[in-house]
Amino acid sequence: KRVGVLISGRGSNLQALIDAARSPDYPAEIALVISNVPDVQGLERAEQAGIATTVINHRDFPTRQAFEAVLDEALTGAGVELLCNAGFMRLLTESFVSSWLNRHLNIHPSLLPAFQGLHTHTRVLEAGATITGCTVHFVRAAVDSGPIVAQAAVPVHPGDTEDTLAARVLQAEHRLYPHALRLVASGQVHVESEHVVGMPQAE
Ligand code: GRF
Repeated sequence: KRVGVLISGRGSNLQALIDAARSPDYPAEIALVISNVPDVQGLERAEQAGIATTVINHRDFPTRQAFEAVLDEALTGAGVELLCNAGFMRLLTESFVSSWLNRHLNIHPSLLPAFQGLHTHTRVLEAGATITGCTVHFVRAAVDSGPIVAQAAVPVHPGDTEDTLAARVLQAEHRLYPHALRLVASGQVHVESEHVVGMPQAE
């Protein structure tokens, strides 16, 4: 499957996908990386790997629809069949989400449906949770929701700060995303009645 990856920053999850896709039996190839923010580290990672990149800066467009039209055109033009958000920080409209329905994944650094939204790790610590984790799910218009493909649990340690917890969860993300993309790209799982079916959801 030809995969497009949407990023806004560092791109460490993108790197994990690039590394996984290097293995000859991996069912997905990263065909295009699009960032809505110029000059980010993720773009350099893609270039290093010889992957085509495009910046589509949302600030250059008067409306979300105009931004998304160009995004969609770039993806379609590159023959992208599956889309992965990896630290992509823009909300997408219902119309864009519908056109990529069940062909579009996101990773979120919590055990969804707990702790949707921004500042996840701070809120996990504030809540006194002792277990957190990460989730790869199919994208729906409501942010950080949609059928769950795979999750990994990560312990919260006493004395954790936002940074130490984020780093521990990020390591789990880097294992989980390639695993989840493999399940989807190989057709081992699919969505039925808004649930992912076909395989155990544990890593
Ligand atoms: C990750 O923690 C991801 O789950 C969250 O933003 C972070 C992106 O990191 N949505 P990176 O750009 O993949 O390094």
